[in-house]
This record gives sequence, C-alpha cells and structure tokens, in this order.
Amino acid sequence: MTTTTLSVIGVGYLGAVHAASMAELGHEVIGLDIDAERVAALQAGIPPFHEPGFADILARGLATGRLRFTTDYADLAGAEVHFLGLGTPQRADGFGADLSHLETAVDALAEVLPSRSGAPTLVVGKSTVPAGTARLLRERLAHLDGVQLVWNPEFLREGFAVQDTLDPDRLVYGVHDPEDAAAEQAIEMLDGVYARILEKQPPRLVMGYEAAELVKTSANAFLATKISFINAVSEMCEVTGADVTDVARAVGMDDRIGAKFLRAGVGFGGGCLPKDLRAFIASAEEHGVGEALGFLREVDAINDRRRGRVVELARELLGDLHGRRVTVLGAAFKPDSDDVRDSPALDVATRLRAAGAEVTVTDPEGLENARPRMEELAELEPDLDTALQGAELTVLLTEWSQYRELDPARAAALVTAPRMIDGRNVLDPQHWRAAGWTLRSLGRADALPAPRPAATDQSGASEAVTGEAGAGEAWTGETRTGESRARPEGARASAARPAEPVPALV
Ligand code: UDX
Repeated sequence: MTTTTLSVIGVGYLGAVHAASMAELGHEVIGLDIDAERVAALQAGIPPFHEPGFADILARGLATGRLRFTTDYADLAGAEVHFLGLGTPQRADGFGADLSHLETAVDALAEVLPSRSGAPTLVVGKSTVPAGTARLLRERLAHLDGVQLVWNPEFLREGFAVQDTLDPDRLVYGVHDPEDAAAEQAIEMLDGVYARILEKQPPRLVMGYEAAELVKTSANAFLATKISFINAVSEMCEVTGADVTDVARAVGMDDRIGAKFLRAGVGFGGGCLPKDLRAFIASAEEHGVGEALGFLREVDAINDRRRGRVVELARELLGDLHGRRVTVLGAAFKPDSDDVRDSPALDVATRLRAAGAEVTVTDPEGLENARPRMEELAELEPDLDTALQGAELTVLLTEWSQYRELDPARAAALVTAPRMIDGRNVLDPQHWRAAGWTLRSLGRADALPAPRPAATDQSGASEAVTGEAGAGEAWTGETRTGESRARPEGARASAARPAEPVPALV
C-alpha cells in the first residue's frame, strides 16, 4: 500500500474518526478545524467525545507521528487528498441544510491548492448534503488545475464509528461524470487511500454526484421511517391492547423487512437522522416535488408524538406534575455515546420540567454535554443511585446497559415511589411488577389508555393488561438478544399486582 498525505477538514465526530482511521491505515494525516480548543485537545490525545475505540487509534496515530492537527489551512498545502468532514446542521430559518461551513472550507482550501501547481489533487466530500451540493462545490474549485471532487458519503453510526469507518458495508463514490477519464483518475486515487479497506472487498459503487448524495439522505430517511413506522404501530397497540414488541418481532422475521430499526420507544434523535430527514423534505420542496417526500413530515411528527406520550404517561401516573420529583435515566440520544444533539431524553426532561416537575437527569457519559442546555432545568446527577433517591417517578429514555440491567428490588429501595416509564421497552415488565413497581411502557398493553372494547370491568381490564404485558427484552446495540418470551404456566394469574392501583386512565 502506498502512503498518501491527506487532510481531513472539520474534525467533529465524523472528521476526527475519519482522520484517526486514515492514520491507522498508514497514511500521513493532518486534521484541520477552526475550533482551536478541539484541535488542541485532539493534538494532546484527548478525545472530544465518547466513542469506543477512538481514543486508541487517536493515541496510536499521534505516537507514530502520522496524525496531527492544525487550525491553519496553509499546513494543508502539500496534501494529495483532502476530505471534507464538515457539519451540515439544520438552518435556523427552516428545514434546509446549512451548507455555509462546507462552502467556507472549500473556498479556504482553494486558496492553498495552487501551490501544488497542477499535481493531481483530490477533494473528497464526506458530509451529508442535499442533492446538487457537490456540483455547486465543484464549481468553486473549477479554476484550479488538476483538482477533482468525489462525493463519498459516510455511513458511520455513533458507538460503532471506528468499526464502520475501517470496515464499511459499502463504499459509494459520486463523480462528476462516471464516463469521464478524469473520473477514472479520481477513483484510482481514492481506491489508493482505501486500499486496505478494499482488500476486504466491500461493494464499491461508482455513480453520479446526485445519486451518491441521495444514497446517504435516502438511507437516513428510510431508517427514520422504519423507526417511526413501528412507533405508529405502537400507537395502535396502545389503543387495541397489543404489545408492540410482539408485533415488531414477528414482523421483523420477514427478511424483506428485517428486525433492525424496529425497536419501538421514544424514537430517534441525534445529530443526523432528524436534521437529515428535514433537509431531505426541504430539498424535495426546493426541487418542486414536495409531495414526493411529504410523508416524511409525518415520520417527524410521529417521532415528536412519542416524546409527548411519555409526558402524558407521567401525568397518568402522577396527576399534576407540579413539584413532583421525576428522575430521567439517560441524556445521550443513544447508549454508548455522549452525544446529546436532539436527544429524545433531554427533550422529554425539558417537557416534564415545563409541566412543573422537579427533574433529575442521570447519564454515564452525556451530562457534560447536557449541562449548557439543561443546567437551569434539571438536576444533573452522575451517580445512578443518588439520582434515584427520592424519585416519585423514574423514566428510562436511553437504554444504557446499566439501566437495562437495573435490579428492580434494589432500585425500589432507593426511590420514594416505585413508578417507572420504560421509554425504550427494555425492562421485563413481569420482573419489575413482581418487585412492586408500577411499570408503563410505550406501545405495550400496559399503556392502554382506555378499557378494551371487550372489557367492561375496569379492574378486570387492568388485570388482563398486567398479565399480558410479556417479558422484557434486552438490546445489544442493534441486535436483539433475549428473544425467549416463554411465559410460565399461570404467569398471568400469579403476576404481581402493581404496588399501587393504576390510576383511572383517560
Ligand atoms: C445514523 C445512521 O444510522 C448512520 O448510518 C448515519 O451515518 C448517521 O445517522 P446515529 O445517529 O449514530 O446513526 O444513530 P442510530 O444508531 O441510527 O440511531 C438513531 C436514533 O434512532 C437513536 O436515537 C436511537 O435510539 C433511535 N432508534 C434506533 C430507535 O428508536 N429505534 C431503533 O430501532 C433504532
């Protein structure tokens, strides 16, 4: 493998992981960011975010001298390949993507590229962008000799970022004109950078710019749609008395559908799915085909309704929330991450606070990032046991393993009242109820808002609901484990009654 000198512009989540991963592959890498604090931290080997495996490859890259960081574009002048890892956040004035960071970076890069005096140079876009962006950015580089632009979207998941970068399930290269000889040279250069990744023979697909851009936005929109689909089914389950985990498991066994991303709960958040979904809607509208993606507005609305549903459940359990002590388990948008961008947990905590509750939020990794947004609104308590003390209601919103594995008897001894809302469907309802908890979840029969049509007697309905709730399931990353849902004979009859009567449901 030949060593390439390359740069990564924008060392946020995507860029920092990409830079360290490229150094891990043996390249000479310089990461650039305008955030001097971030650059200093990375140069000192301090990961600015929690990501399994990242600290190791960062340390290795720095130790070998193959990886370094800068704030100065002039330091990039000698590199043969430049990756663009800049953020494309939602615009302040609407749903569209803010491309200003990318545009500014490409213009700044264009200033230093002439020093290569025509030697082949490759610019590789990795950011998620609306279709048409690469073509516009290419125009900003058109006056430079020997410079090619490829759009190579990144599909990494937080929590698996290093693994996804070094061992991707596919590589997509978007080029200006797949038939053009210049494109062939660009493809060859990028193949050289990824040579060690390509040894494992992942599919490597070459297409036009717009297709590559659309692959990424469609993939994220599809994932969001899948989650909202099962969450819409959750709403049906709540009014019909079905258990969404039963439905999802059986539906997911159809391999045309698949079990992944069918985990019903409080829905999706993070720095990608919500904003990419909205940018996709905005882009369709700008192209005059808003109707085509109009359904994605509903995907967003379903996601928002699930968050509201948690607050409704809190009211059903506590009545007026003013002055009531609620502990929220989770701040990060998903486990194994400290990322709190568009976190469902923090959104629900904010809504509970707005309804008058005294909120405590705990999380193993996410509290520092939550602080600027939540400091005024909630007590931020890193210690789980301390956070549970005094709670009149506990709400699980991020499925960290320490919450999934919480011992209900031990937790019951800490809280003031054993009431739990399982916003991720990861606790075993029978187990928790047997330990004296009143447990409510999203999309499971126990969250039934009214007696089922067949049941005329409220207490009878309640008993049936308790007994039918089924066993909890544990999730490991995206893979479901704990599939056994065998219910012992007589489980229904012997299921523990809730510690206190389930309040009248309206
Ligand atoms: C996502 C895409 O998966 C990734 O391919 C893309 O590159 C970036 O965006 P990420 O933001 O890391 O990755 O999170 P992901 O694992 O997709 O989860 C997104 C959200 O959906 C989380 O809040 C998660 O809790 C939620 N989710 C996921 C569900 O509610 N149910 C599911 O079944 C799966």
